[in-house]
Amino acid sequence: MADPRQLLVSEHDRPLIAPSILAADFARLGEECAAVFRAGADALHLDVMDGHFVPNLTMGPDLCRCLRAALPDACLDVHLMVTDPAGYVKPFADAGANHLTFHIEAVPAPESLAEAIRAEGMTAGLAINPPTDLAAIEPYLRHFDLILVMSVNPGFAGQSFIPEVLEKTRAIAPRLRPTQRLEMDGGINSRTAGACLEAGCDLLVAASAIFGAEAYDDAIRILREAPDDARRAD
Ligand code: DX5
Ligand code: ZN
Repeated sequence: MADPRQLLVSEHDRPLIAPSILAADFARLGEECAAVFRAGADALHLDVMDGHFVPNLTMGPDLCRCLRAALPDACLDVHLMVTDPAGYVKPFADAGANHLTFHIEAVPAPESLAEAIRAEGMTAGLAINPPTDLAAIEPYLRHFDLILVMSVNPGFAGQSFIPEVLEKTRAIAPRLRPTQRLEMDGGINSRTAGACLEAGCDLLVAASAIFGAEAYDDAIRILREAPDDARRAD
């Protein structure tokens, strides 16, 4: 099997599922993360918020370092919702992150930061918020390993999916190489996952729909199999 830490840059024949630890029980975080991997998760999604780019404060490199030590083979997908992502590249690389995504709304000319992330041995992602026009990221698609289409306005877990972003997603999907990921994040659950996958996403993030579920394995399977259900409904 390929190194799980290279997961995001490999080709896949099934959608990948990344639980966001934002809805985990922080008092039992190590246990919670081990449990979602046992239940079939492909990567862990770490939502880093600085209280400035978004109105919430969450986690930083120290937490990433502890998760890396506890889960040496895990793919750690870090989503930076911060005003100055450049300042966090080295700290997260040193903390064992595999992947760093930052926002076009924070860095309007993003190519050199993608290079800086790769120079530190990580893969690089570019995120776009719901109100931001596709034109803002179009020139940069080929410079990134992953494009993240936000399906809520970032800041909090448990918000409702914004279906209008699917149009942007459909426009991006055919322009990506097979090794580039198209990730969606926010409000993804058993009712919305199918539409994301049909629009071309191959990596789904979910916080509440997984950590809020009784059985993590059922929750992950339902998200991954959503497109098959949609096909059967045709
Ligand atoms: C939103 C974060 C998401 C969030 C998803 O600001 O980037 O990753 O945790 O939470 P759910 O899946 O509950 O919408
Ligand atoms: Zn996120």
